[in-house]
Amino acid sequence: MKIIDGKQIAAKIKEEIAGEVKRMIDRGEKVPHLTAILVGEDPASETYVNSKARACKQVGFDSSTYRFPADVSEAELLEAVTFINKDPEIDGLIVQLPLPDHIDNQKVIQHILPEKDVDGFHPVNVGRMTIGLPSYVSATPHGIMEMIMRSGIETRGKNCVILGRSNIVGKPMSLLMARNEEPGNATVTVCHSKTQNLAEISSRADILIVAIGRPEFVTADMVKEGAVVIDVGIHRVPSADTKSGFRLIGDVCFDEVSKKASHITPVPGGVGPMTIVSLLMNTLKASKKEIYG
Ligand code: GUN
Repeated sequence: MKIIDGKQIAAKIKEEIAGEVKRMIDRGEKVPHLTAILVGEDPASETYVNSKARACKQVGFDSSTYRFPADVSEAELLEAVTFINKDPEIDGLIVQLPLPDHIDNQKVIQHILPEKDVDGFHPVNVGRMTIGLPSYVSATPHGIMEMIMRSGIETRGKNCVILGRSNIVGKPMSLLMARNEEPGNATVTVCHSKTQNLAEISSRADILIVAIGRPEFVTADMVKEGAVVIDVGIHRVPSADTKSGFRLIGDVCFDEVSKKASHITPVPGGVGPMTIVSLLMNTLKASKKEIYG
């Protein structure tokens, strides 16, 4: 069994990006700039935005954060998006989700210029990805594809089962794994809360991607011997064995499933570190105008 070390792959990609930023500076080009809009004081969102800023710094990108109180009006937020859309210094914009209930998430996302939507959430990017046109792909599916590619995992003709059908993970993952390109060319099955015989379907998977949002949902009996297992879940649970009193676990029972899998991603240190580098990769593409010219 081989552990797919997301932390190590992510560090390697960051080195590559930092090298490219140095070359851009040598050529007298502007360094990539990522901006985040953060509304309210949700601690998880604060953490995400801070780690994005730290990652930008590590690779030499500029980054900035626009902060708004939780009672900001939708109009004011849309105005900020318009302002950033027009700023030629800023290559990529993400609006940290979730937004407060009085704000229409879709309206805000659709206000971001597709050219700056490095989260890949705008319907234009989602649509382009769906029909195989160049697009920004959202961080988690992009990171998983990168991980699969860099680990030399064959996907062509393989049975890929995806647990979960969310717009930001399961759905795009199913399109990417089924596309006529490699990695891709897999035979894809998507399972969700209404799926019958889920364990039977998952145990036929050569590649099992789990994004179901339930702690340790996947047990060894649901996995085929030699399968590749990608765990997207992350849950903080109480623990008597750690100083903090908590530990992180995934959607997969790592101890038992790792005994059957040929490759498996750990939690933490698997998919997680790949998501931020995906955002950096998209921001680099945005600054080079690789997607929209
Ligand atoms: N909230 C949790 N994950 C994400 C993400 O990848 N992008 C944005 N914009 N918000 C998030």
